[in-house]
Amino acid sequence: MLPAVSTMNIAHRGARAVCPENTLLAAGMGLAYGAHMWELDVSMTRDGKLVVMHDDTLERTTDVSLRPEFAARAPWRVCDFTFDELRSLDAGSWYVRTDPFGQIAEGMVDEDDKASFAGLVVPTLREALEFTRDADWCVNVEIKDHAHLVGHDTIVQATLELVRETDMADRVLLSSFQHRYLQEAGVLMPGLPLGVLVEDVAPADPVALVRSLKAQAYHPGQDIITEAEVDRLRDAGFGVNVWTVNDAAQMAELVSWGVTGLFTDFPLLCWGVLQDQLF
Ligand code: G3P
Ligand code: CA
Repeated sequence: MLPAVSTMNIAHRGARAVCPENTLLAAGMGLAYGAHMWELDVSMTRDGKLVVMHDDTLERTTDVSLRPEFAARAPWRVCDFTFDELRSLDAGSWYVRTDPFGQIAEGMVDEDDKASFAGLVVPTLREALEFTRDADWCVNVEIKDHAHLVGHDTIVQATLELVRETDMADRVLLSSFQHRYLQEAGVLMPGLPLGVLVEDVAPADPVALVRSLKAQAYHPGQDIITEAEVDRLRDAGFGVNVWTVNDAAQMAELVSWGVTGLFTDFPLLCWGVLQDQLF
């Protein structure tokens, strides 16, 4: 079952402030930091394998641009690489090179941790689901919009097949900015909890949108959600899971509004905020 808590601490792409995002290491760190679930992004390789990767291209979160054999393949789209090629990439060292959240500079990532990042691989969705199941945990599976990529017509079905095969139907919350995917998932796997992702522009009527998609939750960016909308959505029986909240004061305010989940790159910080709410 998905967590029965008033506010879920959701480790965004794992505990990605302190280790390489969308890796099993980042997921494990989120679990260790007390997150109720983690969030991952699903993409598809040229040969149809589902992998955990946020960007459409491999440059930011792998060493692909440093690999001479792939030099002619820029801009290195995930969908132009086979799984074997993608799996040969180092998906961890970039974090040490770029220190994306300044956490190395702040001394929050020790030498042993840094050494453990080198050679991390891009996980398959199957590996991520099995990791989550074996940890007795839950995951928000976000299917990236593949409208202009390989897999637009197959990615939902392929994702759900893996959810079934790994026996994860009661541990997955499925979301997407591509609302067609949610409709498809609702038909293919009735009862699977769905979250409606919305980015820059708030819909005129979030309750109507969530209801029309037969979803359970609304997933807005933190800049477009208001307390009044949270009230309306909660009164209508829907969850409200807000992304991506990395500031303790904003976390506390959103909790006071009654949101049901906080996506955060800093799950340990969120854990502390939620602990404070208890006392
Ligand atoms: O699902 C919440 C959040 O992950 C959506 O945005 O770009 O971080 O995948 P993004
Ligand atoms: Ca995401």
